[in-house]
Amino acid sequence: MQTLTVQLSDRSYPIQVGAELIERVGALMQQAGLRGKVAVVTNPTVAQLYLDPVHESLSQAGFQATPILLPDGEERKNLQSLSIIYDRLIAERFERKSCVLALGGGVIGDLAGFAAATYLRGVPYVQVPTTLLAQVDSSVGGKTGVNHDRGKNLIGAFYQPKLVVSDVAALRSLPHRELVAGLAEVIKYGVISDRHLFELLEQNLPRILALDGELLTRIVVRSCENKARVVEADEREDDYRAVLNFGHTIGHALETATHYVRFLHGEAVGVGMAKAAALSAHLGFCDARSVERVVALIKQAGLPTELPSDVLLSDLIPGMEVDKKAASGKIKFVISEGLGRTRFHWLTAGEILKALG
Ligand SMILES: NC(=O)c1ccc[n+]([C@@H]2O[C@H](COP(=O)([O-])OP(=O)(O)OC[C@H]3O[C@@H](n4cnc5c(N)ncnc54)[C@H](O)[C@@H]3O)[C@@H](O)[C@H]2O)c1
Ligand SMILES: [Zn+2]
Repeated sequence: MQTLTVQLSDRSYPIQVGAELIERVGALMQQAGLRGKVAVVTNPTVAQLYLDPVHESLSQAGFQATPILLPDGEERKNLQSLSIIYDRLIAERFERKSCVLALGGGVIGDLAGFAAATYLRGVPYVQVPTTLLAQVDSSVGGKTGVNHDRGKNLIGAFYQPKLVVSDVAALRSLPHRELVAGLAEVIKYGVISDRHLFELLEQNLPRILALDGELLTRIVVRSCENKARVVEADEREDDYRAVLNFGHTIGHALETATHYVRFLHGEAVGVGMAKAAALSAHLGFCDARSVERVVALIKQAGLPTELPSDVLLSDLIPGMEVDKKAASGKIKFVISEGLGRTRFHWLTAGEILKALG
């Protein structure tokens, strides 16, 4: 097991990463100073796989666990699911010291985290992420929230967990496509801030895709370290945290243009990162060799790097402009300056089209 810490003064917390940690979650929570009642928020897919060991581990450590099952799926990351959590917390008389545990992917983490942020104006919560995306991205950094009919993540709060427990053994049951989608975020950290991680991926991708536990632990730890450094510098995304959007301006626009049904988030980000790297080279910020390596790694992971033939770059402009990072008619684009280095650059839609056309 490896431990790292997100340093945010009185909101600091440990991230524990390793294999077979789900069986130790109760003891780890005890170590983190938590006690009493725990609401285990999960969904039927994940519950079937991991609820029993979590429940047993919690009981052994003296916690009283109450499972709360929500329907699976991004379309259920909404206020109705949130209501289910509040109803149960109230019915079970959860108090300020009681705690919420998110057992699942990013959808469960965002829902449970927001419930914890708001129930009684905030109760402690623990993330036990079970997808690669959740282990390397959504469980770290304290963004919580739900979707609204008019847009994704429109309702939310910044609220840090007390502990993150990432069991890489849980990734064995994850559909391969979800694993690959999660790798997009790992590649992203390599490109924006960690050349060493990028090279680790280049050299070991087949073993990672074959779920080698030691390598998975290394890439999850390394990814969390990179995200933690960004969050520590700019917790509430006033400015710098937006570097985490590398590949996401075009990626989000592609998800929107294809109505969120065709691409998983990481797949759209694969295309977005390839385009962002190419754009960086066109603007003279990045060398051609780095772009080649970025595109090759995305491909090797099994992610797309090109837009589908029926989607034009110009179709994506409205999606890029509504991006919340857009201001003053220009889009705040995260540009690569070669492996491990980034900068922001403000571009109009026309400039993006011209550079990539
Ligand atoms: N808070 C943040 O900072 C942040 C960052 C990135 C993404 N997100 C959010 O995360 C969500 C996406 O998360 P995701 O990609 O984890 O999707 P997800 O939570 O929908 O999980 C994907 C699927 O895998 C299943 N699953 C989870 N763990 C499993 C396991 N170990 N074995 C088998 N199946 C398993 C889930 O039930 C689901 O069907 C989005 O809502 C996104 O907005 C949040
Ligand atoms: Zn992302």
